[in-house]
Formats: sequence, structure tokens, C-alpha cells
Amino acid sequence: MITRIITIDGPAGAGKTTVSKLLSQKLNCVYVDTGALYRGVAYEILRQKIDWENDDILELFLKDLDLNFVMENDGLILMSSGKNITNFIRTPQISMLASSSSAKPQVRAALLDFQRNIAKTKDAVFEGRDMGTVVFPDAAYKFFLYADLSVRAKRRYNEMPDEKKDVNSVQKQMETRDNNDSQRKSAPLKPSADAIEIDSTFLTIEQVVDKMLKIIEKA
Ligand code: DC
Repeated sequence: MITRIITIDGPAGAGKTTVSKLLSQKLNCVYVDTGALYRGVAYEILRQKIDWENDDILELFLKDLDLNFVMENDGLILMSSGKNITNFIRTPQISMLASSSSAKPQVRAALLDFQRNIAKTKDAVFEGRDMGTVVFPDAAYKFFLYADLSVRAKRRYNEMPDEKKDVNSVQKQMETRDNNDSQRKSAPLKPSADAIEIDSTFLTIEQVVDKMLKIIEKA
């Protein structure tokens, strides 16, 4: 079966998840938030108190890891060993640990086939950091979505339910994560040479999706 794969990469808070969801609805296909998988790894590292910087321990941990997606109409459910962990993976602590542990080549290798296997049977929009560069170099359409740091931080801040939130610390964390993700050796965050770059600083989600649809439908 030949499937149509669309990739959306970019830094945190650029709007990738919302855009991917809407685009996949318009195209009647699934969307896959690969960041959730790295968050699932971080969640299990924390829960099991894994010394992930020790390569031997990390290998054993990854061998036992059992992450899975259940695709629902309005979103994705992340399962770990049969348990729904979707609601536990969006904390700032998990964001930071997902960013640092995802720099480990072993972690990336452990998730690679899982991502590619989904694409074998389903048309899909995949969002992440290395979709167009490493995981799906032959994707039909590749986009790289970005926006000014302060705008991304404001968007993330507005999504947070916590009363004690603080926009400056959200921005600081985002900047650290961007640096981690783009400077690591293994599959760093960067636009694929053939990706179409979209700056969403002054665009709404609908405008971004319209731009993408025009490009996809023109081809
Ligand atoms: O997309 P997100 O913010 O939920 O991703 C959390 C972290 O996971 C991100 O800081 C880096 C890592 N990640 C990655 O390395 N590769 C991906 N394809 C997706 C996420």
C-alpha cells in the first residue's frame, strides 16, 4: 500500500499540533504527534526512576518500553503498557526531560520503526522535530512551522490552566528546549532542505492550514 505522508516539523509552541489536527481533518487522514512518544519515554523514566544517562540501564529500559497510540476522532491517546497516560505527559518537567532524553540516539532508534510502521498503512500528518529530515525523508509534503519565541511562549502560556503560571519562565524553558533540540547530534531540529517553511508569528491556525492546503492541492 502506498500512503500519503505529510510532515510538519518545528520548535515548541509553533502551532504544530493544532495545525496537524486541523489539516488531517481536512484531508481525512490521521495525525500523529510524535512528541507524545518522547514524552511517554520521559514519563516512564520518571515513574520508574531510571538512570537514563547510563547507557546499559537505558538499553534495558527501552527493551521493556511498550508505548502505543489509540487513534480517536478528536485526538490521540497515548498508552504505556496498556495504561492511558495521555493526561500526565504535558507537565513542564516532562517537557524538559523529553527534550534531554530524546537527544540519546538509543531513544530515537527505539521509536523509529514504530513511527514508520504507522505510516505503512495509513495516510497521515506526522508532526515532530525530525519528521522531514530523518523519519520520512520521502514524504509527499514537508512543512517547517516556526514563529517568534515570545509569540510561541505567549501561546503556550495561554493554554496553561495553572494559576501560578509565569510567561517569563515559560519563555525561558522554551528557549532551553529549542536549544537542546536543535543542537543535539542525533536528528536535530532543523528544516529539511526540501521543506516549505511557514512563519506563523502573524498567522492564525486557519491561515496556516489554508496555506498548506493550497500547496497540497496545487500539486
Ligand atoms: O512536540 P513536543 O513539544 O511535545 O516534544 C517534546 C520533546 O520531544 C521535544 O522537546 C523534543 C522531543 N521530540 C523529538 O526529539 N523528536 C520529535 N520528532 C518530537 C519530539
